[in-house]
Amino acid sequence: MADMKLCSVAIDGPSGAGKSTIAKAVAARFGFIYVDTGAIYRTVGLAGRRAGVDPHDTAAVPALLPGLSICFDYGPDGSQRMYLNGEDVSGPIREPEISMYASAVSAIPAVRAYLLDMQRDTAKKQSVVMDGRDIGTVVLPDAGLKVYLTASPEARAKRRLAELLAKGENVTLEDVASDMAQRDKNDATRAAAPLRAAEDAVRVDTSDMTLAESIEHICALVRGRFGLEG
Ligand code: DC
Repeated sequence: MADMKLCSVAIDGPSGAGKSTIAKAVAARFGFIYVDTGAIYRTVGLAGRRAGVDPHDTAAVPALLPGLSICFDYGPDGSQRMYLNGEDVSGPIREPEISMYASAVSAIPAVRAYLLDMQRDTAKKQSVVMDGRDIGTVVLPDAGLKVYLTASPEARAKRRLAELLAKGENVTLEDVASDMAQRDKNDATRAAAPLRAAEDAVRVDTSDMTLAESIEHICALVRGRFGLEG
């Protein structure tokens, strides 16, 4: 009934393609909820690091899961806040070293299985723009619109560098580019739900688009697919 009216937009792609900024803006335009699924994996990565566990350990990481309470809500400005055992960890999960932890724990099938319902349940209750690596292929295979967002490695590294410098992180383009290449490789070559475009995804390369153009491009796809205004 109510489900008939719900719209789901899946945005997948490698790190630094602009997924989160674009997805958030598109969600705001149409009044949908924005779900950053990378933040959920980052929260597990942070939990692993705090517990002193090797994030590749396929026994130790899953053993942590029953003792974790992971949830999210939205701040007054619409930003997604992540909670780990009741603590707001939205800041700590963005530290650069947590990226690699998140990528490592996300390759463990038991971690992916554990987080699947949380992601699916969100899309059952509200219209969503959900971004990640496997949203169109695994989490929301019936999403009304699937976008595979990418950009050249150079463009992605430069954008991520600008984001980190703006946050006051002390990093170089070389650090960012090599970290990104390593993560792309991990995420695309893992056996469990690897990063790849769904067959029915619309591919969008943002290398030569401004942020505003990228947002308009995706908004046009949403309007066309769902017959919405916005
Ligand atoms: O989007 P992000 O860079 O914050 O994601 C951090 C890591 O989480 C990423 O390297 C791979 C993993 N991830 C995933 O495996 N599946 C998703 N749907 C989202 C993120």
